Order: sequence, then C-alpha cells, then structure tokens
Amino acid sequence: MNKSLISILIATFFVSTVIISCKEPSAGKDVTKTNESDTTNYLLKGKAIATETQKQLAKNLTEAITKGGTEYAIQFCNIQALPLTDSMAKQLNANIKRVSDQPRNINNSANEKEMAYIQSIKSAIEKGETANPQVTSSDNEVIGYYPIITNSLCLQCHGNKNTDITKESQNKIASLYPSDKATGYSINQLRGIWVINMKKVSKN
Ligand code: HEC
Repeated sequence: MNKSLISILIATFFVSTVIISCKEPSAGKDVTKTNESDTTNYLLKGKAIATETQKQLAKNLTEAITKGGTEYAIQFCNIQALPLTDSMAKQLNANIKRVSDQPRNINNSANEKEMAYIQSIKSAIEKGETANPQVTSSDNEVIGYYPIITNSLCLQCHGNKNTDITKESQNKIASLYPSDKATGYSINQLRGIWVINMKKVSKN
C-alpha cells in the first residue's frame, strides 16, 4: 500500500471516529436500580473509556500499518496490550473488553446478553436509526455497551477476502486465528461492541 492511500485511510478513520464519538448517548431501557442521573453518569463514563481505548487502538494500528504493512499490523488489533486501557480501567475501577457476534479471536465471543444488544443495533443500523449505547445495572455494577462501527481502515483485515484482504494477510490471519469469523464486512457495519464493566461507587 502506498503512503497517500495510508494517509487517506487514517484521515477517514479519524473523521468517522469523531462522528461516532459526537453522537449523543441515551440510556437503555432495562436500567433498573440506578436513578436517571446516575445512569447518565455511568453511560458517559463508560463512553469516555470506550472512546479513549478506541483512539489508542487506532493509533497503534495505523502506526503499525505505516511501519510494517497490514500483515505486520495484524498483531496490533488486540486490546490486551494497551497500557492506557489498563491504567484507565484501574483508575476508574472498570473492566474493558471487546466482543463480537463474528469473532476473530474466540475469546472475544459475545455472550447471550451482548448478542441481544448486537442484534438490536444491527437492526437499528439497517433501518437507518442511530446506534445508541446502552447501560444495564445490578446491585454493585453497571455494564455499558458501545457499538464499534467499521470504516475503510478496517477492511484490509475484516473486509472481503477477494477484494480487500491480501493473500499474505489472509494466511497470517488463518495461522493465528484458525476459526476466524471476522471477514466479509463493508464500511458502516457493526463489527462488535465495547463492554465496559463499572463497579458502583458507594455514596456513603
Ligand atoms: C491489521 C489488521 C487489522 C485491522 C486493520 C483491523 N483489525 Fe480488528 N482485528 C484484527 C485481529 C488480528 C483481531 C483479533 C485480536 C485479538 O486476538 O484479540 C481483531 C479483532 C477485532 C475485534 C474484536 C472481536 C474479534 O473479532 O475478535 C474488533 C471489534 C475489531 N477487530 C474491530 C476492528 C475495527 C472496527 C477496525 C477498523 C477501525 C479493525 N478492527 C481493524 C485485525 C485487524
């Protein structure tokens, strides 16, 4: 890939990230034990974590692509090694993960509840509606779900095998992730969700 194409991809990515992060979040329906302002606080707190993590991931990914090409960068779409994620999570007493209904890494498989949210967002996108985040609450924790939408940067690793992903990248992905389900995407589709698990802060 040449340098100008890379710059375009990077620019496109950042523009769409800004658009995604400018969307007004709204509370999900199944919020139970917190009051409305509490819910909004957690929704925003979780959103800040998701946005920061996504930014750092995109930065690592684009730097790696520029440095060594797509094949080399494949190992950088992993959030485990992100220092910011770790420190932010600690600071805010939160746990961050990324899951999908079509995971590349089997450890990122969505559970039943996450799957229900993913389905609701997919049908919202299909109808041209906004992909709103959602929080659910129990006695001692609040869980926030935040959509992860594809843009052109993603396609070289998550796009169409014939047109977007090189043979070399496909081989590398296949060797690292033999049960990969994360291809065939186009732009503006739901690739997965951030799941931010926040411990409730006691008010006493
Ligand atoms: C250079 C290749 C590459 C690019 C570009 C890339 N990814 Fe990935 N993606 C991967 C790999 C490899 C994994 C598996 C990471 C792991 O082991 O946790 C992955 C995993 C994910 C996951 C976690 C769920 C799963 O499938 O395991 C999401 C969500 C995701 N990518 C979204 C994106 C989005 C959105 C973009 C574009 C902004 C993107 N990726 C760009 C290679 C890439």
